Amino acid sequence: MKVLVVGSGGRCHAIIHALSKSAQVDKIYAAPGNDGMRDLASLVAIKETDVDSLLSFAKENRIDLTVVGPEIALEAGIVNSFQAHGLNIFGPSREAAQIESSKSFAKNLMQKYNIPTGAYKVFTDYKEAMDYVSQYSKTASFPLVIKYDGLAAGKGVVIAKDLSMAEKALYDMLVKDIYGDSSVIIEEYLEGPEFTFMCFVDRENVYPMLVSQDHKRAYDGDLGPNTGGMGAYCEVPIISAEDQKEALEKIMKPVAKAMVLEDIPYKGVLYGGLIKTKEGIKVIEFNARFGDPEAEVVLPRLESDIFDVFMSIIEGKDLELKWDKCYTIGVVLASKGYPGSYEKGYKIRGLENVKGHIYHMGTKFDGKDYITNSGRVLILVQQGASLEEAREKAMEDIKNIKCNKLFYRTDIGSKSLNA
Ligand code: AMP
Ligand code: GLY
Repeated sequence: MKVLVVGSGGRCHAIIHALSKSAQVDKIYAAPGNDGMRDLASLVAIKETDVDSLLSFAKENRIDLTVVGPEIALEAGIVNSFQAHGLNIFGPSREAAQIESSKSFAKNLMQKYNIPTGAYKVFTDYKEAMDYVSQYSKTASFPLVIKYDGLAAGKGVVIAKDLSMAEKALYDMLVKDIYGDSSVIIEEYLEGPEFTFMCFVDRENVYPMLVSQDHKRAYDGDLGPNTGGMGAYCEVPIISAEDQKEALEKIMKPVAKAMVLEDIPYKGVLYGGLIKTKEGIKVIEFNARFGDPEAEVVLPRLESDIFDVFMSIIEGKDLELKWDKCYTIGVVLASKGYPGSYEKGYKIRGLENVKGHIYHMGTKFDGKDYITNSGRVLILVQQGASLEEAREKAMEDIKNIKCNKLFYRTDIGSKSLNA
């Protein structure tokens, strides 16, 4: 079988690595991929959002299965287009992917079907939003959450600590349109540990993956700005089997059913960004794809043949997922300055000494060495019989990587370890 993986970062590398273990897969292409994947996949110089070129490539090369990594490709309608041409593709349609690309779509769906999430209101007019916030500040306390109602690469959320912060966020999003011309959601602030619950979904059938936890802030102790994710681990001891059951029965299954009832059946990975509050588990957000860096710590534990998993979802067949019994921790090495401005092009040495998995997030091969080529550069994934062991091994292993312009967090996993 020939498989095309659309995407370029660590998530794409982890999907390719999982596919490379399948006895059925003979050839893997990555579009556009990155140089760090060359051992496992042939790189195809087509952008994730260039749907027409990807379709032509898949037809010309008789691709048996295409797997979509990033949300921008889903929003560009890659799944609709491939399906219209009779090609196998794993991921939700553009309409179903609105569960991620439109926060108001997701919120309205949850409200209609009683799926637990924070209280919210949608605004398109700056003055009306400001009136609401001013009124709010007289009777209730901050923080208040302000979210751009579209894709903003993880940057469209502001936790406003006071009225002036809320005003600035609303002005940026509704008057200056810094992310584009869309509405905003003003949402109740929720408190508790956050976790990621990804499921393979085939219409109303939901097959849960293992629970993981992302670390979004740049620095140790959850300090610094929000990033695409600085590390993750799997599983998450502070989220019990009961919590997982609640998340599955009260959130993931009902939302898959809701999509069927709305006549927008969902097929693909549904990512629940969930929070365990005092009133129970609630939804922070849904994503329409594997998480990044969550895929990098969850997929190495999948024992089932991932090619079969993707095909079963596409063909509507029953599925049983088998998992390796261990803990995984992934630590991201990012360019100094990320998520702000940073320099790239620095040599990375010592990769050959690393004992765990290395997934490349943004590197380039200059003919001799790998060099840094983006904000998030590499993720090192280690495993152990316990979370402590996995973390110790990751922290030891990461010292093998020598590059003076990278930084990483040393506290991945500590929310569970310190609990
Ligand atoms: P999102 O892009 O919706 O995942 O939001 C990014 C981050 O903002 C989340 O991972 C949370 O840490 C935080 N966040 C979003 N919505 C809320 C909320 N209602 N209450 C508390 N924190 C939130
Ligand atoms: N790790 C968060 C995301 O993939 O959106």
